[in-house]
Amino acid sequence: MTVALEIKKLTKQLEEYNYQYYVLDDPRISDAEYDIVFQQLKKLEESHPQFIHANSPTQKVGGQPLSKFEQVVHEKPMLSLDNMFDSDALQVFIKRATDKSQSINIAFCIEPKLDGLAVSIIYEDGLLIQAATRGDGRTGENVTENVKTIANVPLKLRGENIPQRLEVRGEVVMPQIGFDQLNARLNAKGEKPFVNPRNAAAGSLRQLDSKIAASRPLAFYCYAVGVFEGQLANSQFTRMQQLKGWGLPVSSEISCVEGIEACLAYYANIKQKRASLRYAIDGVVYKVDDIDLQEKLGFIARAPRWASAYKFAAEEAITTIENVEFQVGRTGAITPVAKLKPVFVGGVTVSNATLHNRDEISRLGILIGDQVVVRRAGDVIPQIVRILIGKRKHTQTREIHFPIVCPVCASTLERIEGETTIIHNPILTKKNLENEV
Ligand code: IVH
Repeated sequence: MTVALEIKKLTKQLEEYNYQYYVLDDPRISDAEYDIVFQQLKKLEESHPQFIHANSPTQKVGGQPLSKFEQVVHEKPMLSLDNMFDSDALQVFIKRATDKSQSINIAFCIEPKLDGLAVSIIYEDGLLIQAATRGDGRTGENVTENVKTIANVPLKLRGENIPQRLEVRGEVVMPQIGFDQLNARLNAKGEKPFVNPRNAAAGSLRQLDSKIAASRPLAFYCYAVGVFEGQLANSQFTRMQQLKGWGLPVSSEISCVEGIEACLAYYANIKQKRASLRYAIDGVVYKVDDIDLQEKLGFIARAPRWASAYKFAAEEAITTIENVEFQVGRTGAITPVAKLKPVFVGGVTVSNATLHNRDEISRLGILIGDQVVVRRAGDVIPQIVRILIGKRKHTQTREIHFPIVCPVCASTLERIEGETTIIHNPILTKKNLENEV
């Protein structure tokens, strides 16, 4: 076999593996087996650079840094979504859409609302030619070089009947595992970690050096088609399946249902699954499935009348630390607990947040009286994420003094080697706990 043919064969093989892994979520080979084929291709390309194709699976590593991002004017504006805050609003949305149609029941395509940033990617003759951020909806930034490095973004589409020109829109996110690893890496290098996965995704996509972007664990999921030349189905749900068939990643949670009950059931179900999803979601997007009906419904201002977002209750809120108390656990460990000015977060009113231990207090740099970001995700105990240092008023803050003796039994405290919890003198503690019972 000639080198050119061998390169073609290995490329096809890797494209198929990528499709199975990233789009079908069904890898048929191990990472090690993938690496062998990848290295084979890389070696051949290195010795025959004249055969390196810009869309080769080896070319996802980034190129020369840019001096600035060019502006891109979106051919069709990238709109935002109206928000709904309760099931009554969903009922109104469904009724308005149904009234506009001739049917009694209409279908809704329901998707998770991914918490990242919106990006438009244009394919011509099946090849990725441009990627841009949403920007203000009319004009965004040309981030093609960075988007090309995202592992699950195909540089070349696969399959039949691909529109000659196709703009897909979707969200670039940073999956939780990747986010945690990235922050650990930044911390180890003494660099500032990112506040949340969304900021990390945005910061990574706006790197002028695409090699840095390539090192960031980003992922992309399509949720819409922008402009296109060619044939596409007349249903949002079917369009998303078509995109999937062409090798584009689409969330596996996407569904198509009729009626308010099914719409609400989807919301309840995904809320339950939220923490186990690979990426952060902040709600659900309901879309009229029929594209003709979408067009009939049209837009108001910057949001469509055929789509609306039902967001989960915010998981982060700002409040003040009013005091810090020290709780004595059954094992004798002492846990500092922040007493907060009550705040509504994650669907409930929160007035306590755990500070875990003395090291956590130092890490956060907290003073009593500080304004802080508190987070309550799912049923997890509320946590303090960070302080708003710019809001600190020295006249209204005071230091936290970790107790020297146990606040319950007054026994002396010991710091256990290698641990960050403080344990009482065990004998006294035991006695104290026995007395308690
Ligand atoms: S559709 C015309 N679908 O939410 C409709 N947006 O708040 C355009 N988003 O800018 C958006 N997941 O960045 C749509 N499944 C989804 C989404 C989604 C996340 C983002 C998107 C948009 C923002 C609006």
